[in-house]
Amino acid sequence: LATADLGNERTLAIVKPDGVSGMYTSSVKKIILESGFAIQRELTVHLDEDSVRRFYAEHSTKSFFPSLVKYMTSGPVLIMVLEKTNAIADWRALIGPTDASKAKVTHPDSIRAMCGQDLERNCVHGSDSLDSAAREISFFFY
Ligand code: TYD
Ligand code: MG
Repeated sequence: LATADLGNERTLAIVKPDGVSGMYTSSVKKIILESGFAIQRELTVHLDEDSVRRFYAEHSTKSFFPSLVKYMTSGPVLIMVLEKTNAIADWRALIGPTDASKAKVTHPDSIRAMCGQDLERNCVHGSDSLDSAAREISFFFY
């Protein structure tokens, strides 16, 4: 019986190219572990354009999409599966709002405030729902 896992939830976290190139991976991982998440899987990879387009397919019609694809392919990323009770909402709360420049004002203790720069270069990703977490985890991990 896998009853020990029933309270646990998994989410997908990504340290984006500006986070990796800015040497923020160890600070982000430290926050993750100190916040009670287990890092179940991790992978460092330089994504190609096709992968980013498929990963962010929900945004494919947005005006920012080409720029987002260019940014996400600009260097290696660190992809992690995080596990803990309420992992999805708790990781979203830790990373803060999408616009890192606003996060620096409204959520100064958030990860995006710490290592992000603006609405596009916001340092980290987090799944936004149970469905997207399942899709995103299976996108990168079997
Ligand atoms: P979104 O899913 O809205 O934000 P989040 O990452 O907080 O779930 O958007 C996905 C990414 O697209 C976002 O992290 C950064 C980028 N983006 C832009 O570059 N410009 C924008 O106007 C928005 C809304 C997002
Ligand atoms: Mg999103």
